[in-house]
Amino acid sequence: MKIAVVGTGYVGLVQGTCLAESGNDVVCVDKIAAKIEGLKQGQVPIYEPGLGELVHRNLRDGRLAFTTELAAGIAEAEIVFIAVGTPQGAQGGADLSGVWEVGRQIATNLHAPKIIVIKSTVPVGTNAELARRMAEVAKVPFDVASNPEFLKEGAAIDDFNKPDRVVVGVRRDEVAQRLHELYAPFLRTDHPFLVMSPESAEMTKYVANCLLATKISFINEMANLCEAYGADVNDVRRGIGHDQRIGFHFLFPGVGYGGSCFPKDIRAVIHMAQSQGLPARMMEAVDAVNEAQKDVLFRKIHRHFGGEVREKTIAIWGLAFKPRTDDIREAPALVLIDALLEAGAHLRVHDPEALGNVRALHGERLAYCDRPYGALEQADALAVVTEWNEFRSPDFEVMRRLMRQPVIFDGRNVYEPARMAAMGFTYYGIGRAPSDPV
Ligand SMILES: NC(=O)c1ccc[n+]([C@@H]2O[C@H](COP(=O)([O-])OP(=O)(O)OC[C@H]3O[C@@H](n4cnc5c(N)ncnc54)[C@H](O)[C@@H]3O)[C@@H](O)[C@H]2O)c1
Repeated sequence: MKIAVVGTGYVGLVQGTCLAESGNDVVCVDKIAAKIEGLKQGQVPIYEPGLGELVHRNLRDGRLAFTTELAAGIAEAEIVFIAVGTPQGAQGGADLSGVWEVGRQIATNLHAPKIIVIKSTVPVGTNAELARRMAEVAKVPFDVASNPEFLKEGAAIDDFNKPDRVVVGVRRDEVAQRLHELYAPFLRTDHPFLVMSPESAEMTKYVANCLLATKISFINEMANLCEAYGADVNDVRRGIGHDQRIGFHFLFPGVGYGGSCFPKDIRAVIHMAQSQGLPARMMEAVDAVNEAQKDVLFRKIHRHFGGEVREKTIAIWGLAFKPRTDDIREAPALVLIDALLEAGAHLRVHDPEALGNVRALHGERLAYCDRPYGALEQADALAVVTEWNEFRSPDFEVMRRLMRQPVIFDGRNVYEPARMAAMGFTYYGIGRAPSDPV
């Protein structure tokens, strides 16, 4: 099929590339000229495992093209995906200006019937409103459908190729059939293709993210309670997870969720509820718990140093909002960095992929270290904020020698408290008692 994807970010670039990889002819459109110029040369602007290789191959084989010209980009396409950002707006709801703008441009340049599919996460009613707005301009018939995206950054290619499910929201069976044909290569292992109304599809995406965010805030609140009462949340996790009604997934305590989705989507749902005069008590609590949790490592560091963090050197491992991405949008590490800088600390930071993005934000206020051990030189403490695999089994002897004081604040419970104590570290985790060197 001939496909266009408008918005070549984390979602659009993965969508376009994976559809090209399965044999479709894909044109990716973006308004940022530098991004498109780079992509034409095979330079992938984000870090996503496996994506670079796929972009190169499909570019070389002529199935994948990039342009800033929307009219030309969509001209041949039978299906046009909209994957532009829908960031948080001033009132807390989703800012849909990108979707409306792209919709207007598509409608103006529509010379043959097409299926327009909203992939961006949008409030319920957006598909209907986009169809209404486009109909005012378009001279040929078109369909608007919803196809929310569920991929996880850091595992996006895998998620696209083997989705747990594909959800589409349509008004006509023919549209569902065409989308089913497009996704069939990815559903060979009997994963479901779920057809519903656009409203239900739009809501499905938000409900999924609300539940996932709820699990995180829930376990974080329980972790803090465990810690206060001398229980270990890791044992408690094992204690509850074997109950099949509960399970183990997504119940890892930490420093709060970040990223470009959960924070804004939870607030968009709160805004949607308010717009209907409905309470959103749970989501308000989930958001509030999360905001407080982003501060948890700073509070521990502050307490450990008796309130005097000024002139201390703190190493930070992990800046991206999660491992295997360079995305730092709403990353908990940024909250910790701000608090430590405000308190007068010196920071030596390391992340395998996100250093460039943090440097663009903080300039020379931080010391950027290419290697994890480099960040530890003369450090008074280490804070582990993102659980990249390479942090799991470091050489603790080397670490202790490099650090001025052997103190670890483990925001992801990567290490075992007893082992850390035996290795000569003062250790603080999340939801478990701190341990001192033995
Ligand atoms: N990132 C994720 O993990 C993820 C997962 C599921 C859903 N989503 C949703 O997908 C959508 C896109 O997210 P993202 O992370 O890919 O965003 P992003 O910011 O990485 O990418 C959006 C792209 O759209 C482009 N764009 C904006 N307006 C445009 C216009 N008028 N014309 C052409 N291009 C335009 C931007 O330049 C940018 O490159 C959002 O609604 C998000 O909530 C994201």
